[in-house]
Amino acid sequence: MNNMKKIIIVLAMAFIIVAIFKVCVSRDTYSKTGYKGKLPKVGAAIYKYDDEFMSYICNSMENDAYGRIALNMNDSQNDQNIQLQQVDEMILKGSRALVINLVQPKAAKAVINKARVANLPVIFFNKEPDASVLNSYDKAWFVGTDSKESGILQGKMIVDLWNENKSKWDKNQDGKLSYVLLKGEPGHPDAEARSKYALDEIKKAGISVEELAQATAMWDDAKAKEKMDGWISKFNDRIEFVISNNDVMALGALDSLEKAGYLSEKKFIPVVGIDAIPNAIKKIKEGTMVGTILNDASSQGRAIIDLVTNAANGKNILNSTSWKITNNKYVRIPYVTIIKDNIDVAEQAYK
Ligand code: GAL
Repeated sequence: MNNMKKIIIVLAMAFIIVAIFKVCVSRDTYSKTGYKGKLPKVGAAIYKYDDEFMSYICNSMENDAYGRIALNMNDSQNDQNIQLQQVDEMILKGSRALVINLVQPKAAKAVINKARVANLPVIFFNKEPDASVLNSYDKAWFVGTDSKESGILQGKMIVDLWNENKSKWDKNQDGKLSYVLLKGEPGHPDAEARSKYALDEIKKAGISVEELAQATAMWDDAKAKEKMDGWISKFNDRIEFVISNNDVMALGALDSLEKAGYLSEKKFIPVVGIDAIPNAIKKIKEGTMVGTILNDASSQGRAIIDLVTNAANGKNILNSTSWKITNNKYVRIPYVTIIKDNIDVAEQAYK
């Protein structure tokens, strides 16, 4: 090989080495500085996509994230192990902050452990972790509601509606409100608080109650319909109220009641839910469902994105926002009672 050839080969090799080195450096720089010139990456995990209320929060998050952060949304398919793997991937892919809707509230600790190692901020939402776990990491916050408030409001709404209509709704005129209760996922802070506080409010108002049955339908309409079918054949005309922890289950119960002829004027059984999803709003307008509690998905989605955008940019999470924080950890969006008279409030929230 003559000298000229040797020089060309050495130069070519040097060029290749420099090129490889540049790629490595730039990747490393990107992951450290957050995609130079591009939007900061944020990884989000939703406990399962197949949950109607969560889909409204996701829509709100996606709309609000547009042009501000690169949001990478993941379906955890109701499996905590899948979600923890997704968290690992988000961290590996260079997320600057995490947004987590836990599958199991108890798994907050495992998520925080991972976030802490990577020194990343994490916003939990919808399923509230234990306060001690949230307080164990200075870069963890919760965006959601006050579960207890939804139960109290639902209970007060039932009291008002019952007092106005008991001449028709107290079928056997024994002065007792005989109910069946559809519960969300056991152990879920919303399901537990709603079941407890709704009933406490009714009792506090001096109304005697009779619980005919209570069962979980896991926030799901088909499961709720199945339960309701069984209760109708077991209790027939003894059911005087259907209290549901969310609207999706209330709609399942309505389906069952409708098929069994219980929505006609004479046999009418009142049903209440929580969330104020569009299909429930429709039923309240029609008069087949009597009320719900607005769980403001739109505001929750906006608050999540405002906070996480700040966190991903290394700013104070409340920077340039008007959200109120309590105990330095919680941004809670208020619930609103919805009946036919103020249905426009719920319609506005879903615009
Ligand atoms: C609740 C909501 C339910 C369900 C649940 C999922 O706040 O009312 O419908 O979506 O969250 O965690």
